[in-house]
Amino acid sequence: MTKEIMIEEIKKLKKEKNAIIVAHNYQNEDVQNIADFVGDSLELAKKMVGVEADIIVFCGVKFMAEMAHMLSSDKKVLLPRIDAGCPMADTITEEDVIKLREKYPEHTFIAYVNTNADVKAHIDICCTSANAVTIVQNVKNDKIVFLPDRNLGNYVQQFVKNKEIVLWDGCCNVHDKIRFEEVQEAKKSHENAVLIVHPECRPEVVKLADHTLSTGEMVKFVKETDAKEVIVGTEEGMIHRLRKEAPHITFYNAARNFVCPNMKRTNLEDVYIALKEEKYNIILDQELREKGKKGLDEMLKYL
Ligand code: 13P
Ligand code: SF4
Repeated sequence: MTKEIMIEEIKKLKKEKNAIIVAHNYQNEDVQNIADFVGDSLELAKKMVGVEADIIVFCGVKFMAEMAHMLSSDKKVLLPRIDAGCPMADTITEEDVIKLREKYPEHTFIAYVNTNADVKAHIDICCTSANAVTIVQNVKNDKIVFLPDRNLGNYVQQFVKNKEIVLWDGCCNVHDKIRFEEVQEAKKSHENAVLIVHPECRPEVVKLADHTLSTGEMVKFVKETDAKEVIVGTEEGMIHRLRKEAPHITFYNAARNFVCPNMKRTNLEDVYIALKEEKYNIILDQELREKGKKGLDEMLKYL
């Protein structure tokens, strides 16, 4: 099947089955182009509340599809690649959180949405990179456990000096491997460019940046800035989205091979098969889904 025919087939199936395709900003270009909605984790979470469709094809990674199922449990949520996980989410287990709860009984547990469903079931409130600072600042407790990303937690701590934040020692191996020297080199090569980075990067890389932004905030930034050149310090797929939104800007990668293999697993054919065969259907048991949803609902109160 040619790409053009496949695109037509996907559109036909979408209509027949009353489906919506949503995609994270890091997805492959073809997948972003066929999607009805592309966004960051927070925008995708908001989109899931009251979405009008029978089927949601979630092009992203597993924790995102679980989040969609929690927020929109009357819909069928399909994850085209069941092997698209998030290694950061896997740095903490349910047992780890139960032990932490025993150690820090007075703390409020704030979890990045990049966590698996069983972990979400044991925390108080979720956050994304777009609202982490606001949420840590506003929860009514000066004692916080923040998990699982130590880099995002370190970034948040700069803005919330008056609270004790206990960090879990997890990170995103895609962002954390980006070295200060390489990003500094990119800045030297493009002296007039503005550097934007994701808060999952290491603190020394974040210090080099002009702006530290979630992927959704990056989109907003490039639409509003007067800058003609922008160096992008996050997964490469982001540049496709940014070019679409601001074609007048020249974009550069902050580092080579800035790729999340899990986000890149899904291709057009996977989307076609997912819709045709209605797989992989993400279903959690009711108790887990309801417990996990509480933290997401708490987060969405802040918006
Ligand atoms: P955003 O919420 O900024 O889209 O980030 C999600 C993610 O997985 C970053 O690695
Ligand atoms: Fe997970 Fe990192 Fe990939 Fe985001 S970029 S999905 S945090 S591994």
